[in-house]
Amino acid sequence: MTEAVTPEMRLPPKVSGEKPDIGHMEEFNGNFARFLMRCKAECGELAEYNMAGQRTVLMSGPEAQEAFLKGLDKKLSRAAAYQATVPVFGRGVIFDAPPERMKTQLKIQVDALRYQNMRSYAAVIAQEVQDWVSGWGEEGELDFLDEFIGLTLNTACHCLLGADFRYKMTEEFKALYHDLEKGLQAIAFVDPYLQQPLFEARDNARERLQELISEIITERRANAHQEYGDALQTFMLGTYQDGTYLTDNEITGLVIATMFAGHHTSSGTAAWTAVELARNPVFATEILDELSGLFGQGQEITFENLREIPRLEAFIEEVLRLHPPLVLLMRRVMEDIDYKGILIEAGKTVAISTYGSHRDANYFPDPETFDPHRARASTAEMMWAYIPFGGGPHKCAGNAFALMQLKSIFAALLSKYEFELVDAPDTYQDDLSAMVLKPSSPSRLRYRRRG
Ligand code: HEM
Repeated sequence: MTEAVTPEMRLPPKVSGEKPDIGHMEEFNGNFARFLMRCKAECGELAEYNMAGQRTVLMSGPEAQEAFLKGLDKKLSRAAAYQATVPVFGRGVIFDAPPERMKTQLKIQVDALRYQNMRSYAAVIAQEVQDWVSGWGEEGELDFLDEFIGLTLNTACHCLLGADFRYKMTEEFKALYHDLEKGLQAIAFVDPYLQQPLFEARDNARERLQELISEIITERRANAHQEYGDALQTFMLGTYQDGTYLTDNEITGLVIATMFAGHHTSSGTAAWTAVELARNPVFATEILDELSGLFGQGQEITFENLREIPRLEAFIEEVLRLHPPLVLLMRRVMEDIDYKGILIEAGKTVAISTYGSHRDANYFPDPETFDPHRARASTAEMMWAYIPFGGGPHKCAGNAFALMQLKSIFAALLSKYEFELVDAPDTYQDDLSAMVLKPSSPSRLRYRRRG
């Protein structure tokens, strides 16, 4: 993408079906993943649609997706596209921080998800999974979406804020988190400061959560030498270039931002993995054989032995291809852009669709078929076609954490239990009613202890 913009340049083709005032909002809200596939089928690499006045250019195909993901912040701004998160994360945090401070905050966030903490996270997750299944008995039936939402909230809370907070986690904390989540509905992307009860509850929850987290910070400052091995410790030790520490407000913001980035993305993927395992028993048996070799003699699940489980990894990769939790990534265009002679004007939004990209038959033949054995060329093109974790400078910071958690959960579950669908196979569908894709509710599965 260049900025050599000339007056005779063409504009991106417009998607049909625009309505007065609302543009494509109605069709988008119906099923946005399918709407985005229609945009690409009709217009090709660039397709412009209208969200109640906000003109958005969908960029499709590996080349356009690479340009989007590698775009510099000053040209393609995430901050301007994700302003709805400001009241949730907090003033002065990430997308509301000046560029240099934002950079440092993101670096500290990445540090918290890096190797040095991963070993203790692996132990925490293994423990949480063990506690979770301890009351299951011989057989039963559960809604696995609800179950994974609960489990991954516990693991996120435990890894981010430590054991003390996790085991004291009250209904109050869950209610506050829920109020913050409700504050990120589609309307917040139009105006997050509208006067309405939903946003009032969001603001009260943000304030109260900071009080709770400040209490732990104060306690920990009094015990400065203790090792906690959690993200809060990394956030508390991180400094800006001038040597100052993050404020309680900023630390609270990073906790919330990390929780939001990691929670529903993980629970949705875990739920889809469980459903696909139940729907594809032949592949499940292959993975079980692999796990028996690794954990068959009652070996503990640890960070080390979770590292390489190729069949399970390929299975999760295929789940993320067909059901990528973050379907739509967005940036605001800050300076006019020339993309192959087409002008994308400043002020517009640009977007890419992981869901659409993963269903491109040029790269994924017979794309709707679930096949963990599908060969994937390791070409540069493929790298920008398969993008469940995004790519470039803002590629998912929790990628390694997410995969380690999924492997830990399914290594433990599959060794102990077998699963089967309760409802007809085609009733388990992608639910796109929220920002993060998940299987439709209820996602009921029957489990039975292995003999
Ligand atoms: C299967 C699970 C997950 C998927 C599919 C996923 C996907 C993504 C994607 C696509 C992005 C890029 C967004 C963009 O470019 O606009 C992203 C960013 C991010 N993710 Fe994840 N994510 C997952 C789990 C997690 C977890 C568990 C955490 C933390 C514990 C996490 C933390 C982050 C953070 C902090 C960013 C922002 C990075 C930055 O701004 O530089 N993610 N994720």
